[in-house]
Amino acid sequence: MNKDNLHILVTGGTGYIGSHVVVELLDQGHTVEIVDNLINSQIEVLDKIEQITNQRPVFHEVDLLDSSALNQVFDHSHFDLVIHFAGLKAVAESIEQPLKYYDNNITGALNLLQSMQSHDVKQLIFSSSATVYGDQGIEQCVETLPTGIKLTNPYGKTKYMIEEILKDLCVADPEFNIIALRYFNPVGNHVSGLLGENPNGIPNNLMPYIMKVAAGELPELHIFGNDYETPDGTCLRDYIHVVDLARGHLAAIRGLKPGFTAYNLGTGRPTSVLEMVTAFEQVSGQPLSHSFAPRRPGDLPKLYADPSKAERDLNWHAELTIEDAIRDILTFINHK
Ligand code: NAD
Ligand code: UD1
Repeated sequence: MNKDNLHILVTGGTGYIGSHVVVELLDQGHTVEIVDNLINSQIEVLDKIEQITNQRPVFHEVDLLDSSALNQVFDHSHFDLVIHFAGLKAVAESIEQPLKYYDNNITGALNLLQSMQSHDVKQLIFSSSATVYGDQGIEQCVETLPTGIKLTNPYGKTKYMIEEILKDLCVADPEFNIIALRYFNPVGNHVSGLLGENPNGIPNNLMPYIMKVAAGELPELHIFGNDYETPDGTCLRDYIHVVDLARGHLAAIRGLKPGFTAYNLGTGRPTSVLEMVTAFEQVSGQPLSHSFAPRRPGDLPKLYADPSKAERDLNWHAELTIEDAIRDILTFINHK
């Protein structure tokens, strides 16, 4: 496959990570079509993508659960490659509504794979997560570790199950080239401040919560636990700028090969919650109200990537810092 000027279908392409990947794909000269049901994104994202790239991807408002509408998208165009982001991702909601998560994420993935196979589209990049490593008592995760160990929520299980489905598919049909990218903690946004993550209501994840406190929409950040066995007592994570993450997808396209391969996309650098708060205060020049709260059930004390496989095979590594991410977030907040 010539890797220039590909015709790429991006599911979930109006979402937070998908929209950043679409920008990078268009900038690299690829042709992009998006499938999204807008359950967790807005159609206006297309305007922002156009503002940044001067190109507007073709958009299909289609639910992956609607297999006949999805097949029509494949009937209409021949795609060289699919990048699959579409899915639900709220951990707590997945515990309350497991069937909704299994249906949306697993059935959605199955419908997509069936459409791909029947239309002879056999190159796929899948959004997986560091959550597939589960709780093995290991801080720095490498791809040779087993997956699916002590997974604590249906969301994480859907990522693990989809990876297993993809492995089986590659065994049955050796023409498939599939990469699963296991994201660590994506943060930040495009430098223009036009795209970004802006959840409704009270966010679960650290950076969206910090953003709401910085924007004056929430009074203070609650830091979940300061008695962990870490240097400052707060949890360590691997925060990766979403633009670095997006570029990891471009590297994965170049690295597609027969069979199933998984890569970590992280920086390899652990950052504590308190370090993130301090960095935010330094870059913004403003204090960020925070207090300590009890541990959040299910949180691991330390989790960060060994990103050396992606460096070795894909010639990719993260280049941006958490300070870059915070600077870009402040631009995004000012744009809102
Ligand atoms: P997001 O919610 O911003 O984007 C997902 C998009 O998929 C949304 O636009 C949503 O409307 C769409 N979608 C959901 N179900 C759909 C369906 N049935 N049919 C069509 N469209 C559907 O999430 P994101 O942060 O951009 O995450 C993208 C992917 O990366 C997800 O699969 C997520 O699980 C995975 N991931 C995200 C993170 C993270 O921290 N953001 C970490 C690891 C993995
Ligand atoms: C969460 C998900 C994980 C998913 C990942 C994607 C949970 C339990 N886990 O992981 O499945 O793959 O996002 O990025 O939701 N924190 C606070 N106060 C807050 C919010 C967070 O102190 O208001 C702390 C958490 O305790 C954690 C760190 O910040 O130590 C990061 O939290 P979060 O952004 O939710 O990410 P993960 O827990 O790594």
